Amino acid sequence: MPVTYFHRYRMQYDLREGLFAPLPVPEGYSFLPWQEKLLDDHARVKFESFRNELDASVFPCLGDNDGCRRLMKEISCRQGFVPQATWLVQHARTDQASATHYENCGTVQGIRIQTDVGAIQNIGIAHAHRGQGLGALLVYHCLKGFEEAGVRFVTLEVTSHNTGAFRLYQRLGFSVLKTVFKSVEVSY
Ligand SMILES: CC(C)(COP(=O)(O)OP(=O)(O)OC[C@H]1O[C@@H](n2cnc3c(N)ncnc32)[C@H](O)[C@@H]1OP(=O)(O)O)[C@@H](O)C(=O)NCCC(=O)NCCS
Repeated sequence: MPVTYFHRYRMQYDLREGLFAPLPVPEGYSFLPWQEKLLDDHARVKFESFRNELDASVFPCLGDNDGCRRLMKEISCRQGFVPQATWLVQHARTDQASATHYENCGTVQGIRIQTDVGAIQNIGIAHAHRGQGLGALLVYHCLKGFEEAGVRFVTLEVTSHNTGAFRLYQRLGFSVLKTVFKSVEVSY
């Protein structure tokens, strides 16, 4: 099968230099810490956030509901899983009859890859909720969780053509460590 290569940046945040100051949480949103019972919620938001996005071509499981569930299960069962760095964003909306409707709209997971190095996994905000600072707040919550878990350096990988995400990480204080290539088999 033919193979295509995606150019990606490995980026790092040095927690020894402190955490950036977060902006206030927009009204109606809350950040829920990891609980096993939220696994399916994380998986569904992951799918909502990544389907039709560039990274679903790089990691086909992200463009598939079952794939996202398998991935969430695999991450949460890993020995290095860091629950404190794993967050779900929820939006609450009250309608005219005063009934409150909850919608999950963001997810991130953290794993420890070395004693003092953590890795951010699959951060995503559902389309309708982007551009309000939730992505930055999710990164903040994740970094804070890593810090509490005793991690000093936090890495992530971003596809170089994912300019919005790359710009966000740069703005928050991540720097590029190196470039890597991810090979993906393509079927025509
Ligand atoms: C990358 C992603 C998580 C960013 O989420 P987001 O919630 O839109 O992020 P933010 O709102 O914090 O920042 C996005 C932009 O909104 C702007 N913004 C932040 N707060 C804002 C506000 N209150 N009002 C208007 N704009 C605002 C930011 O300045 C930023 O602008 P920039 O693109 O010029 O840097 C989201 O686009 C996503 O899920 N993408 C698909 C999945 C993906 O690619 N994930 C990354 C894998 S590495």
